[in-house]
Amino acid sequence: TGQYARDDQGCITVDGVSVAELAQKYGSPSYVVSEDTFRSRARGFREAFENAFTPMGLDVEVYYASKALLNTHVARWAQDEGLNVDTASGGELEVALRAGVDPAKIALHGNNKSAAEITRALDTGVGRIVVDSLPEIQLVADLAQKLAVRAPIMLRVTPGVHASTHEFIATAHEDQKFGLSLNPSVEGQDSPALQAIAQCVALREHLDLRGLHCHIGSQIFAAEGFGQAAERVLALRQTVAERWSTVLPELDLGGGHGVAYTSADEPRTARSIAEDLAEHLAGLLKNSELPLPHLSFEPGRFIAGPSGCTVYTVGTVKTVTVSPGVQRRYVSVDGGMSDNARPVLYDADYTAVLANRVSDADPVLSRVVGKHCESGDIVVRDVYLPSDVTAGDLLVVPVTGAYCWALSSNYNWLTRPGMISVDAQGQVKELIRAETVNDLLARDTG
Ligand code: LLP
Repeated sequence: TGQYARDDQGCITVDGVSVAELAQKYGSPSYVVSEDTFRSRARGFREAFENAFTPMGLDVEVYYASKALLNTHVARWAQDEGLNVDTASGGELEVALRAGVDPAKIALHGNNKSAAEITRALDTGVGRIVVDSLPEIQLVADLAQKLAVRAPIMLRVTPGVHASTHEFIATAHEDQKFGLSLNPSVEGQDSPALQAIAQCVALREHLDLRGLHCHIGSQIFAAEGFGQAAERVLALRQTVAERWSTVLPELDLGGGHGVAYTSADEPRTARSIAEDLAEHLAGLLKNSELPLPHLSFEPGRFIAGPSGCTVYTVGTVKTVTVSPGVQRRYVSVDGGMSDNARPVLYDADYTAVLANRVSDADPVLSRVVGKHCESGDIVVRDVYLPSDVTAGDLLVVPVTGAYCWALSSNYNWLTRPGMISVDAQGQVKELIRAETVNDLLARDTG
């Protein structure tokens, strides 16, 4: 993406600011986010989807899936660019509220929300609670009754689609914890999704069932899975209309749009994703006599991922003999699986670039590893780095804006890095300050 360039010293810059300066001032490792890239991707996604769907008579709303990357600054950027904010826990909800996001534009998700989380959402007037199970429908209704409000809810269904992505981030096949199945568990009976709708209808005094929601998984490139899911969910909408004479106004097709991590991935534009989906939906809706649904989407990674990178400092460089005549160079950096768990969790690929200077030394196949006491602590499995990479050099690992800070930990009592943003004018802001060991020790009661 366009935020990167090199300055006169050969150092990588993010929107004009040298990463060496940032590392010097804010420490290493640091996450560096391009505010302009985040904003353009958020705005670009919304505009692309509006442009593709409005001519078909379909309204679109975009919820930024804040689980990918959230702090009050980022929540404000999303809201400024006309996006709503999707939260997946009481904590994420508090950040969005603290950021001043209009509660009516916040959604609350989760397969195991607590009564306290639901109460907070109802109290603050959150725009939608996405319910995920039969017991939760009752719980939301009970809490709404207690607070004398009518809870706006969406029902998350499991469309039974096998999205081609890593097993741990696919969420629409049958055997997983999310949503209500569209298939009856016993032949001849109503599916869990239909049972849930019957329950919502029975409790309609307390529940305002706005529509159906599905999410097929994450880091998905092909449009087919979304099309199949939409087809199944629209069929359910039709059944509901026939059985209860109720047209559910809203349809949320979730997030999951993939981004390119390395040159092996083909990046997609929001426009091409939106146009593909619009074509699928046009085909599905043309025979329906029901009023058109109000659509929503929940991209997280697509917006946040390419906006951020991680700056590391190189420490130990070691070459090991893998087998006779085969060597591998290990380049250690000052972070690792605690600031980017994705390679360990999902076998995710990243790339790394020598950042503080340009070198014309020969490229050597290298493995970038962290400093944790685990051999699986890999940042980049295979990357060519100049043979003269040495302690003190900086590496930039791009596309770490999504699910890196979000999944970070204090493994080995490492302090979590801070997050710095650079805006379009080259203004630097510390979004989250880096932790210190004292921050961590302050929680130790001994
Ligand atoms: N909506 C729902 C209901 C979701 O569960 C998710 C992601 C999203 C939207 C946003 O998906 P995205 O557009 O970011 O793909 N930690 C994993 C990803 C987990 C995704 C969980 N749900 C990773 O690092 O790959």
